[in-house]
Amino acid sequence: MKSETRLLAGGMLMLGVATSALVVIPYLTVRDESPLAGLKPYGAAELRGRQQYIAQGCVYCHSQQPRTKNFAPDFQRGWGRATVAGDYAHDTPHLLGTMRTGPDLMNIGARQPSEQWHLGHLYQPRAYVPGSLMPSYPYLFEARDRIEPGDVAVTLPPGVPMRGRHVVATRDALDLVAYLKSLDRSYPAVLDGDRRDLR
Ligand code: HEC
Repeated sequence: MKSETRLLAGGMLMLGVATSALVVIPYLTVRDESPLAGLKPYGAAELRGRQQYIAQGCVYCHSQQPRTKNFAPDFQRGWGRATVAGDYAHDTPHLLGTMRTGPDLMNIGARQPSEQWHLGHLYQPRAYVPGSLMPSYPYLFEARDRIEPGDVAVTLPPGVPMRGRHVVATRDALDLVAYLKSLDRSYPAVLDGDRRDLR
């Protein structure tokens, strides 16, 4: 065999091994993963909110994958136990994220269950966390002089500049917050009857 042919064959073999180890085998392992007991499917508003989370680019700054203590002290930070494949059974596409400019959000629904807090924080993060570098999302809200029946008005901390007398959440904002509140993996990770310590 010519040395070029051997080089090419070796390269193709390495590519094949790498593709199966990094892409094919992980896919086959998690493809049919059944949901863990305790994991609820998303409702209609939560699914719309998930689309907002994608559209607004939240995934670029927030991960959804707390890890074990050997790897990172995520549990001590209050981000929850390390997740397993069964925690993502309803997540298509997954939103694991690769950046942690902001905190991990896999358990934000358990950590911060207040709708008002989330709405106000989306309207102006720096009103809640001084110095926050999270962008504000004012276009998810409407300025109103009067509150109509059915409106969800946001109560902002004193001193936050407002364009109208009231700030009212749009449906997109309410859906997004419904999704954030649904992020809660605080049930135990029990795999095939075998309870694992995943802290
Ligand atoms: C440029 C990066 C960036 C983007 C984009 C971003 N965030 Fe953040 N986020 C942060 C940072 C930094 C913090 C921590 C400071 C704070 O709470 O404001 C944070 C905090 C949060 C928190 C509070 C977390 C906690 O543990 O208290 C929530 C909830 C949140 N972000 C949701 C969102 C949502 C929803 C979006 C998309 C609409 C988004 N973020 C987009 C950077 C970002």
